[in-house]
Amino acid sequence: MSPLVIVAVFCFLLSPVTTSARQINTIDSNPREQIRKKLIENGLGLTPQMGWNSWNHFHCDIEEKLIRETADAMVSTGLAALGYEYINLDDCWAELDRDSQGNLVPKASTFPSGIKALADYVHSKGLKLGIYSDAGTQTCSKRMPGSLGYEEKDAKTFASWGIDYLKYDNCNNDGTSPKERYPIMGNALLKSGRSIFYSLCEWGEEDPATWAKSVGNSWRTTGDISDHWDSMTSRADLNDKWAAYARPGGWNDPDMLEVGNGGMTKEEYRSHFSIWALMKAPLLIGCDVRSVDNVTLELLSNQEVIVVNQDKLGIQGKKIKDGDLQVWAGPLSQNRVIVALWNRGSSEATITAYWSDIGINSSTVVNARNLWEHSTQNSIKGQISASVSAHDCKMFVLSPK
Ligand code: GAL
Repeated sequence: MSPLVIVAVFCFLLSPVTTSARQINTIDSNPREQIRKKLIENGLGLTPQMGWNSWNHFHCDIEEKLIRETADAMVSTGLAALGYEYINLDDCWAELDRDSQGNLVPKASTFPSGIKALADYVHSKGLKLGIYSDAGTQTCSKRMPGSLGYEEKDAKTFASWGIDYLKYDNCNNDGTSPKERYPIMGNALLKSGRSIFYSLCEWGEEDPATWAKSVGNSWRTTGDISDHWDSMTSRADLNDKWAAYARPGGWNDPDMLEVGNGGMTKEEYRSHFSIWALMKAPLLIGCDVRSVDNVTLELLSNQEVIVVNQDKLGIQGKKIKDGDLQVWAGPLSQNRVIVALWNRGSSEATITAYWSDIGINSSTVVNARNLWEHSTQNSIKGQISASVSAHDCKMFVLSPK
């Protein structure tokens, strides 16, 4: 590691800039290496997962035609080529009752061809298929069974269908801790004979960042997002608290993207996508990609922002300056630093990030790449400033010269 990246990582982890930063320092006392040794053994999630999930837009209104058309659209829009690979079914894909052998049964009225045929179709597009179950007796919709007590059977079923990803919810459970229920499914997946990404969804109730690294590849840190500015910003803040625990193999999950669902402005969606990328959050698209508009597609397709999310260093950027005019930042590979200037206030304002706040040595000269304007400012020293519209966010990658 070069001196710059060492200084950057240390300053970033130790700088007591705001209350939230001080809070994070307590958590940071966990040695990263100790955590790293205890990863789930499926080798997946070396970068945050990218893809699509049915819940935010369609809720229970899903059927196989929609999923096939979504897979087609992921390819035709170019989103698949940018790395969005998982097509994930959420709640409501199964019959309410298991069959006489206790197997889960795809809902005949909406998935008449079955899940194996759907997986084959999705795979034929070069994509992966994800599915949903619950660590209780029924899923949250109460329209299908949960996997509690059926973990090995269901994991084998998923593997036999060619499933690549499981989101595992927490409704209607028996009251035992998620720390007991979630590893049972994790182990069942490991023994299933197929490589299956394991996404824990216990809504952050028992601080999964502190224990789930050896259990799954990502863990929700919050309750459900909704398609509003306040919901999105509060999920960002909640997720920020656990920054020190994210790493290749295991990621904090502040819930899926609402970009394109219509409840926020373009500026707000740009902020949503930017901060999720910086936080190394899963990038799971939650809109109807079959009819995606140009503005949404442009936001979701910003390769320079995606590359930040997928950076192999895998360190979650975090909030450095609180208030209306926020600075978020974090180290990237190759001695670079990502910085976001995020205007949470209601009028346009200039936001400044100082090198001392974002972990760069005061004498370091950088080139600043503006990831939304696709332009570069050369030879900047000491600070970076920009005028940012209300609720908008600017993102820069700072590369030392
Ligand atoms: C919630 C979960 C959502 C969605 C929903 C389905 O518990 O957080 O993301 O999966 O259940 O019923």
